[in-house]
Amino acid sequence: MANNFKYYSPTEVIFGKDSERETGKQLKRLGASRVLLVFGGNSARNSGLLDKVRCSLKEEGISFSELEGIVPNPRLDKVYEGIRIGKAENVDFLLAIGGGSAIDTAKAIAYGLAEPEHDVWELFQHVRIAEKCLPVASILTIAAAGSETSKGCVITNEKTGEKRAYDDNLARPKISIMNPEYTKSLPDYQTESGCVDIMMHTMERYFTNGGNLEITDAIAEALLRTVMKNAVVLHENPGNLDARSEIMWAGSLAHNDLTGCGNDGGDFMTHKLEHEIGGMFDVTHGAGLAAVWPSWARYVYKDCLHRFVRFARNVMDITLEGTDEEVAEAGIYAMEQFYGNIGMPTNMRELGIRPSNDQILDIANRCMIASGNHTGSAKKLNLDDAVEIYKNAR
Ligand code: NZQ
Ligand code: ZN
Repeated sequence: MANNFKYYSPTEVIFGKDSERETGKQLKRLGASRVLLVFGGNSARNSGLLDKVRCSLKEEGISFSELEGIVPNPRLDKVYEGIRIGKAENVDFLLAIGGGSAIDTAKAIAYGLAEPEHDVWELFQHVRIAEKCLPVASILTIAAAGSETSKGCVITNEKTGEKRAYDDNLARPKISIMNPEYTKSLPDYQTESGCVDIMMHTMERYFTNGGNLEITDAIAEALLRTVMKNAVVLHENPGNLDARSEIMWAGSLAHNDLTGCGNDGGDFMTHKLEHEIGGMFDVTHGAGLAAVWPSWARYVYKDCLHRFVRFARNVMDITLEGTDEEVAEAGIYAMEQFYGNIGMPTNMRELGIRPSNDQILDIANRCMIASGNHTGSAKKLNLDDAVEIYKNAR
C-alpha cells in the first residue's frame, strides 16, 4: 500500500550535446540580469566550458561576477564570500558550474542573499526555515549528488567540522543544463564515487518499512541496474559517451524524489552516517557511502528483510535457494563485491581513514544531533547503533 505523496520536481532540464551554448538565452528568459557564477578549481576552466558560458552570457547582455575555488565538501566561508560579492554586485541569479559542491554553494548563497538580515548557517542548524531564495541554475559537470534537480543543500562549517544539510523546494534549480561530454574528463575515482552516490540516493528510498508502489520499485530497480552496468563500462572505458549519458540522467532521476513516491521518505541513515565522516575526514562523498553501506546493511537487514530479499533478487540477480536471511545476505555481499570491482572502498580502512574509538563516539554523537535520535526507516538507529555501525565499518 502506498503512502500519500506530493511530487514536485520543477527543474527544467536541457540535456545533450552543445546544450551549454543555450545558457545565456535560457537565463535571460528566466529574468536573470546580474549573475554570480560559482565554480570549483580547474575543471570548468580546463574544459573550455567556463569561457563558453561567459561568451553565452555576454551575447545576451547579462552581466556577471565570479566566485571560484569551491572545494568538495563545500565550505561555509565560500558561502559568506559569495553573499558578500552578491550584495556588492546586486546579484539576482546564481549559476553554478560543476557538481554538488558548486551547486550547493550557489544554493546557500541564494538563501543568504534573499534574506540578508539572517545568518544563512541558521538554516543548516535547523533553528529557522527559509522564506525566500534567489533563483539558481546549474551546468552539471559530474553526475553524482543530484543537486541539479534536488531540494538538498549540504555545507560544511570548517570551523566546527559540522557537515549539515538543509532541504527546501525553494532552492531547486530553475534550470539545469547537462552535456555528458563534459564528464569525460573526470578521474575514475570521481566517476565511480558519483555512481555510488546515485545508487545510494535510490537505495535510501528503497530500503524502507513504509508504504510502497510497484511502479516506484520498478523505476528504482531499473535505475540501479542501469547505473551498475554503466559504472562498469566507464571503469573500463571512461570515454564511452553513451554510458556517460545514462549515468548523468540517472543521477538527476535518483534524487529528484521520483524514487520516493509512495514510500515514507526513505531511510537516509547511510547518508547521515557518511556526512559526519565527510565533516571530520574530508573524504569523497560517494566513496564514503560505499565504505559505510555494507556495515549499515548487515546491521539493519533483519528489520527490513522483505526489501533486502527483493533487492537481492531483482537488482543483484541472486538466484540462491535459501532462507530469506541467506538471500538478503547474498545480496549485500554481491553489492559489496560490486563496489570493490569498480574501485570503491567497502570499509573505512579502504577509504583511507582509521578513526579511533573516541572519534567514532564523536561522529556518532554528531550524527544523532544532526539527524535526531532514533531515526531511519529500515531500522531506527540510536547512538549505540551508530557506534556499532561505524566500528563494524573500520
Ligand atoms: O573543482 P573542480 O576542478 O571542478 O573539481 C571537481 C572536484 O574536485 C571535480 N570535477 C567536477 N567535474 C569535473 C571534475 N573534474 C574533471 N572533470 C569534470 N567534468 O570533481 C570533484 C568533485 O566535485 P563535487 O562537486 O564535490 O562532486 P559531487 O557532485 O559528488 O558533490 C559532492 C557534494 O555534494 C553533496 C555531498 O555531500 C558533497 O558535499 N551532496 C549534495 C546533495 C544535494 N545537494 O542534494 C545530496 C548528496 O547526497 C550529497 O550529500
Ligand atoms: Zn549523496
